[in-house]
Amino acid sequence: MTDDLFTLRAETEAALREAADVRAWDAVRVGVLGKSGTLTALLKDLGRTPAEQRRERGAALNRLKDELAAAIEARRAALEEAALEARLAAERIDVTLPPRPAPAGLIHPVSRTMEEMAAIFGAMGFAVAEGPDVESDWHNFGALNIPAHHPARADHDTFYLPPAGPGAAPPVLRTHTSPVQVRSMLRQPPPLRIVTMGRTYRADHDATHSPMFHQLEGLAIGRDITLGHLKGCLIDFLRSFFGIASLPVRFRASYFPFTEPSMEVDIGWNRRTGELGGGGDWLEILGSGMVHPKVLANCGIDPAEWQGFAFGMGVERVTMLKHGMADLRPFYDSDIRWLRHYGSSPLAPAMLHEGV
Ligand code: DAH
Repeated sequence: MTDDLFTLRAETEAALREAADVRAWDAVRVGVLGKSGTLTALLKDLGRTPAEQRRERGAALNRLKDELAAAIEARRAALEEAALEARLAAERIDVTLPPRPAPAGLIHPVSRTMEEMAAIFGAMGFAVAEGPDVESDWHNFGALNIPAHHPARADHDTFYLPPAGPGAAPPVLRTHTSPVQVRSMLRQPPPLRIVTMGRTYRADHDATHSPMFHQLEGLAIGRDITLGHLKGCLIDFLRSFFGIASLPVRFRASYFPFTEPSMEVDIGWNRRTGELGGGGDWLEILGSGMVHPKVLANCGIDPAEWQGFAFGMGVERVTMLKHGMADLRPFYDSDIRWLRHYGSSPLAPAMLHEGV
């Protein structure tokens, strides 16, 4: 190799070493191997080399070209690797750092109670049904054996909505969840077993009444369903829901237009301390009964062939009893302090008292 080629090699190697990034590296590559690069120029000059030296010079230039091409390629790989290392170092994260606290929401006690109810009745084979908040007069009253001018209507403090036309019965905000019984029987042939939980409305407002509140309703229809099933089902539910295996439960004869016989259900508690379970006092907690034959017939079910039981209770009421809450009004105030105190974690499963 002649001196000029030694020099070119040394200069190119030095320039490559100095090239700190891909742009500088590319300038070196183009300067040597590009169209007007130094080595390219020497190859072009080969034609002017005296014939006796041409072969040797040509071979030396080609060797140098291969050598420099390899050196240039090696430098590119080194630069790329260095760039990757730098990027990895810059983007390094410390996986041992504790996470930033994320704001966590809580489940409202009414929602939690309804989840628990659905879980307990679900385990007993009840499906969850739904119905609309705005009901026809017939679904809310008529089908349930509460005709117009029936005295039971006066108990309901009903919100009436504008009627669809002259002479039409005004729709209502449902005053109870019992119309979902009607809808379930019309939707599905018996046997059936449903619960529904949802909003109900009555024009009433004080410490224990809200114009909007929630009810749970249950319905079981079969060929051989008896009062015994009703009692067993509700005793199991109440003991499971309140988590008290020995909770005293009492069935007391009562009246509802849609059941016959009808019973109100009381649980044992201590009136003085508010404690549930013992104490010798009774607290009314829900209404129930055997579905009235007229109601079955109104819903297209033959009462000679089918019978069943139904029950209804206030969701807020049982929530207040379970958690010792005195006032209903904060349920709807959206006061964050109250919600933090009474809300429950969305990650905690609904409480089921196994074995109760
Ligand atoms: N609908 C009744 C109310 O709002 C509660 C009720 C009583 C529902 C007896 C029932 C039942 O299904 O059988 O006061």
